[in-house]
Amino acid sequence: MNFRDVTKLDLLNTYRKEIDECDKELVAYFEKRLALERQRVDCKIETNFEEINQKMKNHDFQEELEKFHKRVIEISKKATKKHIVFIGFMGCGKSTIGKVLSEKLNMPWIDTDEYIEKKVGMKIPTIFSVHGEKYFRALEKNSIKEIMKQKPSIISCGGGVVLNEENVINLKNNGKIIWLKADPSTIYERIKKDDSRPLLRGNMTEEYISEMLHKRMNYYKQACDYEIDTKSEEIEDIITKIRDLLLF
Ligand code: S3P
Repeated sequence: MNFRDVTKLDLLNTYRKEIDECDKELVAYFEKRLALERQRVDCKIETNFEEINQKMKNHDFQEELEKFHKRVIEISKKATKKHIVFIGFMGCGKSTIGKVLSEKLNMPWIDTDEYIEKKVGMKIPTIFSVHGEKYFRALEKNSIKEIMKQKPSIISCGGGVVLNEENVINLKNNGKIIWLKADPSTIYERIKKDDSRPLLRGNMTEEYISEMLHKRMNYYKQACDYEIDTKSEEIEDIITKIRDLLLF
């Protein structure tokens, strides 16, 4: 990661924090308005202007505050129209969850590996064996750039996408990033019989997965906006979590 990119990542994180602060202030302001309404009600009671219903007087408006917050986020989301991006280690459910979510939200679904395969007319293992990983990573980088320009979609990224800073910046600039997580033994159990992943061919052990995951952990952490553990969750529960996080 070069200096310019680090600064950009910092800047993106700063914007995120400032937006969160802004949301807090909006909610606080709305809260202030509600408090004023309550004082007005008290004043009316004291001056006997009106029969005020006691239920209204003691209402704490918590639900209204939450609704207001959700609405603010909904409106900003519409204004920014972003992709929803899944990152994470192989076997963490990026494609499965991505596909289901795209049906639920009626949004297009793009799997970066499938996109690359169509682009070059070769399966991922063949790309690796014929041209090598470096060539695949270059294809991956260009594909991410192209995909980002498409209309808001659900995007399931290959597990190594986060290793390239330019990818992370592109994804952060154009989407909300959700890191789907699982522990090495869960991952191993899920993918042990699948030999379509060139980086694990001849290395399909829990220890190797654990080592690889350990090396990548910080990349995922740095890149994501939200993290979800997929270990013991049903797909529907994960979708509900995503809905709660992204408020749709
Ligand atoms: C890779 C993950 C794969 C695929 C390629 C490299 C990685 O995608 O992009 O084999 O480096 O983790 P999945 O995560 O969808 O298996």
